Amino acid sequence: MFHWLEKNPFFFAVGVFVVIAFAGLIEILPNFAEASRPVAGLKPYTVLQLAGKEVYKKDNCIACHSQLIRPFKSETDRYGQYSLSGEYAYDRPFLWGSKRTGPDLHRVGNYRTTDWHENHMWDPTSVVPQSIMPAYKHMFKNIADIDTAYAEAVTVKAVFKTPYDAPNGTPLGTVDEARAAALEEAKAITADMKNQDVKDAVAAGKIPEIVALIAYLNRLK
Ligand code: HEC
Repeated sequence: MFHWLEKNPFFFAVGVFVVIAFAGLIEILPNFAEASRPVAGLKPYTVLQLAGKEVYKKDNCIACHSQLIRPFKSETDRYGQYSLSGEYAYDRPFLWGSKRTGPDLHRVGNYRTTDWHENHMWDPTSVVPQSIMPAYKHMFKNIADIDTAYAEAVTVKAVFKTPYDAPNGTPLGTVDEARAAALEEAKAITADMKNQDVKDAVAAGKIPEIVALIAYLNRLK
């Protein structure tokens, strides 16, 4: 029946395209269904974590790190469970990246800790002697922008219906409440840190970028 098709390169190519496109759609479409986005139990980022995500974007970690574990044994052995689309439901934008000069970070919160990140961001070679990752000492001084992160949270809640304040969800509240909550969260993190300037800043009510970034990295699980 399709004999003529095999003898006609142009229509054969069109046919192949249609078949592959259809197969692609079948793979992709279910991921847009309500039921698979977000994955069960996923909570929106806290304001402090969002501020850390801003640091991640600003300092261009995405240039060397992906956040997408592919479903191959070599990757799941190293990084853990492969990534699901519903895990990024509250990522705006998602930070999949396309280059791995360093390792994938999508589940780094499972195997790296606050104090490890503190040492590593201050001087990567202190924990990984051969590391070529740059140091990020300025993050220990620069103060994180909590108010902009709060504005971002309010916006995604309004525009994309991200379920802040939902039962068992992440509370957002007023900007003052958000600042207070971020500070509490920051204090819990600095309890595991040793840099005295950072501890002093948080005690004085200011949150250095490194604390927000660690809040974000710890959340990547
Ligand atoms: C120039 C490329 C480069 C940039 C930019 C970069 N990294 Fe890295 N990163 C690496 C390399 C290479 C490694 C592996 C060696 C090491 O652990 O230091 C690494 C390792 C890491 C690890 C350890 C992961 C693991 O599984 O052990 C973390 C966490 C990390 N980077 C976070 C960051 C963050 C956060 C930023 C942005 C502030 C950043 N990196 C920017 C190259 C980079």
